Amino acid sequence: MNALVYNGPGKKAWEEKPKPGIVKPTDALVKIIKTTICGTDLHILKGDVPEVSEGRILGHEGVGVIEEVGNAVTAFKKGDHVLISCITSCGKCSFCRKAMYSHCEDGGWLLGHLIDGTQAEFVRIPYADTSLYHIPTNIDEDALVMLSDILPTGLECGVLNGRVAPGDTVAIVGAGPIGLATLLTAQFYTPAEIIVIDIDENRLAVAKQFGATQAINSSSENATEQIMRLTQNKGVDVAIEAVGIPSTFQLCQEIIGAGGRIANVGVHGKAVSLHLETLWSKNITITTRLVDTVTTPMLLKTVMANKLDAGKLITHRFSLKNIMEAYATFANAAEEKALKIILTND
Ligand SMILES: NC(=O)c1ccc[n+]([C@@H]2O[C@H](COP(=O)([O-])OP(=O)(O)OC[C@H]3O[C@@H](n4cnc5c(N)ncnc54)[C@H](O)[C@@H]3O)[C@@H](O)[C@H]2O)c1
Ligand SMILES: [Zn+2]
Ligand SMILES: [Zn+2]
Repeated sequence: MNALVYNGPGKKAWEEKPKPGIVKPTDALVKIIKTTICGTDLHILKGDVPEVSEGRILGHEGVGVIEEVGNAVTAFKKGDHVLISCITSCGKCSFCRKAMYSHCEDGGWLLGHLIDGTQAEFVRIPYADTSLYHIPTNIDEDALVMLSDILPTGLECGVLNGRVAPGDTVAIVGAGPIGLATLLTAQFYTPAEIIVIDIDENRLAVAKQFGATQAINSSSENATEQIMRLTQNKGVDVAIEAVGIPSTFQLCQEIIGAGGRIANVGVHGKAVSLHLETLWSKNITITTRLVDTVTTPMLLKTVMANKLDAGKLITHRFSLKNIMEAYATFANAAEEKALKIILTND
C-alpha cells in the first residue's frame, strides 16, 4: 500500500509501505475512505514532536471501512463503516474507567504518533471495540472526519472545561480549525457574545460567518483594550486559548472577568507566566486538557440530526495519492485560505 511517511524533520514522502495486519486479537484493520491533515502533523514535520520516529506513517483522523477484525473484537465486523478516533482507549484501565481516554495506560494519542496512522490506504486500529465508532452508510463522510479530533477538542478542552453557559460572554483566542470548532460547539450553550481574536483576516471573516458576534485582529488593534471596552471593563466569563503561545495565554489572563474561566486548548512548547498578582482575587478557574474524545458519540448524533454543520470547516479536497500537494496547500494555509482538507482514498 502507499502512505505518507515522516522521514525525519522536514522530510516526508508518499511511498510504498507494507500493508498492516492484525497484530493483537483486539485490533481491527481499516481501509481508509477519507482522512485529513492536522496542524499537529505540521509540528511533527518541523521536528517539534521528537517521539515520532523516522518511517512513521502520519495522520490521526479519518473514516474507513473494516477490512478485518481480530478474534477478540465483538462490536465491529468486516464491511462496517467506522469513524476513527484520534485517541485510542483500552476501555479497562483506571484512566479509561474515569473517561480520561487520552491518558489510557495502553492507548491515548497513538495514531500517527507512536504507531502508524491514517494518511495511508490501510491502518491498524488497536482496541477497535473502544476506539472506533459505527457510522451509517448514507451519511456525509467528509463532515464526519471533523469528529476524529477537532470538534471533540474544541468542545471538551474549550467549551466544557470553560463551562460556557447561556448568556455568557466568551472570548476564543485563535481561529484555526480548533478555534472554529470551539466556536461552533460553544453555540450549543447559547452564550450571548462570542468574541474571536486572531491575526488572520480571512479566518476572522470565517469566524463571523460561523457565529462570532465580534472579530478582533490582534495584530492591528489592542485586543485587551477592545475586549474591555466591549464588556464595559468587566472582562469575559470564559476565555479559551486555542493557539498555544505565551502571548495568547497572557491575553486570556488580561481579559478574564471576576468568576471567569480560562480554558487552555493550545499545545504549549514554552513556559508561560502566571499572573497571580492580578488574578488571585478574581475567583477564576484555569483548566487544561488533552482531548479525551468522550463527546464523540454525542457529536455524532448532533451532526446526524443536522444540528451541527461540521462540513463547513472543509475548504479543500484532494485525492489521497495527491497528499504531497495537499500538504503544500495546508502548510500555506493563510494564502490558500485553508482550514480542513479532505483526502479521499479512491
Ligand atoms: N489540547 C488538545 O488536546 C489539543 C488537540 C488538538 C490541537 N490542540 C492545539 O490547539 C491549537 C490550535 O490548533 P489549530 O489546528 O487550530 O492550529 P492553527 O495553527 O491552524 O491555528 C492557530 C490560529 O492562531 C492564530 N494565531 C497565531 N498567532 C496568534 C496571535 N499572536 N494572536 C492571535 N491569534 C494567533 C493563527 O492565525 C491561526 O488561525 C494548537 O496549539 C494545537 O496544537 C490541542
Ligand atoms: Zn489533530
Ligand atoms: Zn485504557
